[in-house]
Amino acid sequence: MAILITGGCGYIGSHTCIELCKAGYEVVALDNFHNAKPKVIERISALSGKPLTFYTCDIRDARGLSAIFEAHTVEAVIHFAGWKAVGESTVLPLEYYENNVSGTVTLLKVMRKFGCKRIVFSSSATVYGEENPSPLTEDMPVGKVANPYARTKLFNEHVIEDVCAADPDFCGMLLRYFNPIGAHESGTIGEDPNGIPNNLMPYIAQVAVGKLPYLQVFGNDYPTHDGTGIRDYIHVVDLARGHVAAVAYALSHTGAQVVNLGTGVGYSVLDVVTAFERVNQIPIPYKIVPRREGDVTIYLADPTKAKELLGWQAEHSLEDMCRDTWRWQQRNPNGYDDE
Ligand code: WQD
Repeated sequence: MAILITGGCGYIGSHTCIELCKAGYEVVALDNFHNAKPKVIERISALSGKPLTFYTCDIRDARGLSAIFEAHTVEAVIHFAGWKAVGESTVLPLEYYENNVSGTVTLLKVMRKFGCKRIVFSSSATVYGEENPSPLTEDMPVGKVANPYARTKLFNEHVIEDVCAADPDFCGMLLRYFNPIGAHESGTIGEDPNGIPNNLMPYIAQVAVGKLPYLQVFGNDYPTHDGTGIRDYIHVVDLARGHVAAVAYALSHTGAQVVNLGTGVGYSVLDVVTAFERVNQIPIPYKIVPRREGDVTIYLADPTKAKELLGWQAEHSLEDMCRDTWRWQQRNPNGYDDE
């Protein structure tokens, strides 16, 4: 019996493959390499100690997906595959709906054809929108989401909830991530953004390694202890372990469950910069610039439900996240691209 990971060569997908192998599951991964590199396959195989069962496949390809379900008895799917750039989604909304929503519908139809009734979905805290107060709890109404990317996450949550309503034997775990950062302690897999990073930690890492001259701090006039934005940063390995816990739950339960995967602890931009400098003994030059459109002051999880329902909680510290990020970046200054 296998667990199928869509987007298995991506940042969170690759870390989840490793944690599933460690937990004793048979793992089958697919990716179309839109947002990932083939080199990740060999890195996962080396870390897990056995060759990764992998298929190059697009989730919109029903025939390709069916071939995988014919070759393996898939007991659950962890669904990461999707486009994820907030800004890009405002420019290419049709491609985001086609890839993220239509692709998910295709995947669910193939799952139905083969009697696979368990899905763990990669959702996002952005579905809470800007009006819900932190710490955010799963019973809050979803917010006025700010972009097509976030809307695809919300739509997919509703699609999976409707499948659960139509099939009482189906289980859908809708995991709302906060801010995943860090890397596996080996330094061999990590975040490898295309082009200039949009997100804070990969940007800091590229400043540290000399690829970028300085960090732009988007505003220091927020009502926080140091004026910069506060977020709930979670180590990617903790996030991956949350997926292992969600699969275990899904294999013995039915129905739809929304679950936050965050720490409940907030750090500001300058807290992260200071921690990175202290842990790695590297100066991170920065300049304060105007706020970024769409940013909010604070975004924090209430992680209670994950603890009570899944028996999971984050264990890594901000120092771990900074140390592991740097080890990955230092050893892979060009990510998975050849030197
Ligand atoms: C964090 C903080 C910025 C970059 C994003 C996506 C969201 C989700 C997680 C997928 C903020 C500040 C950042 C920089 C900065 N992804 N910052 N300079 O915006 O909380 O969430 O990633 O689901 O969809 O929106 O993360 O890392 O971009 O920003 O000052 O160069 O760092 O203002 O306060 P964010 P982020």
